[in-house]
Amino acid sequence: MDTIKANQIVHGLLAKTGDYENSPHLLPENVQHVRTVFLDIFKRAGIQPNYCLSNCLDLGCGTGFMYEVLKDIGLKSYIGIDITAEMLSVCKRKFLGVDVRIGDATCLSFSDKEFTLVTNYSFLDHLDNVRPVFEEAFRTLKDGGVFYSGLIPNADFSINLHRANESHCEFIQDSLRTSLSREMDSMFDNGSIYKDKYGMDPGILQLAEPQKTLHFGLSLDDLSALLKEIGFSRVIVSPNWYYGQRELKGEYTRMKIVEEYLASCGSVSQQMFKYFDFFAIK
Ligand SMILES: C[S@@+](CC[C@H](N)C(=O)[O-])C[C@H]1O[C@@H](n2cnc3c(N)ncnc32)[C@H](O)[C@@H]1O
Repeated sequence: MDTIKANQIVHGLLAKTGDYENSPHLLPENVQHVRTVFLDIFKRAGIQPNYCLSNCLDLGCGTGFMYEVLKDIGLKSYIGIDITAEMLSVCKRKFLGVDVRIGDATCLSFSDKEFTLVTNYSFLDHLDNVRPVFEEAFRTLKDGGVFYSGLIPNADFSINLHRANESHCEFIQDSLRTSLSREMDSMFDNGSIYKDKYGMDPGILQLAEPQKTLHFGLSLDDLSALLKEIGFSRVIVSPNWYYGQRELKGEYTRMKIVEEYLASCGSVSQQMFKYFDFFAIK
């Protein structure tokens, strides 16, 4: 079985049972979070929202998360592409009249320079190789267009946590031991949930997320270098969800202060964030 087939099985099942709609990233607070990231990046990077949002292509669109995010901040035109028909059926039921099509993001049928924004969310880890998707995004974007990729699992984070888990050191303050074991389970053992719930071979899930299961996530430095090599002029990174953030959920102000501090450290705090998003400008 190949990665595409495994994705169709996993996402076909999640869409049919309705369970995909319970994914944490679809919660309204995350929709709002991603909207805020877009508005912030438009301002900081001097991107004109009207231009950028005029013509969007969404890769691995699933049930329409990016459409939901962008439709209320000025999106003019949108096409979503996905290889799982059941995900697109849910998308069409949620957003009447939305333009979504079956297709493989690694080889698109669109002409050069058609779009001003190419997006994907929770998607890159489902590919064997990200290069063809980056090349297609670059080819189909107009000059000055933006390629956005969100919720990318950060390999530096997983490797760092793995090392911490193996450590024999005892620290004066080590209050986040419980979150360490929780993170380790969700990172390295999530196939077992599928087995218990659906009787699905955990190997199929592993096959559907090769960047997570084979490489522990994606390397921010490698992705930035690749985007530059392909021709993008700037790559702006937005880190997302730091280690221990869940513990501060009830204390919003403290949670935000820590987030802003860590994000302001740039590469120094890179391994503290579970995910990152990037905006690459053509
Ligand atoms: C985790 S889901 C994310 C869906 C949506 N972007 C979201 O944030 O909810 C990943 C999606 O990528 C799709 N997918 C995987 N490989 C693909 C490919 N090569 N081309 C197009 N879609 C693909 C899957 O069918 C699935 O719907």
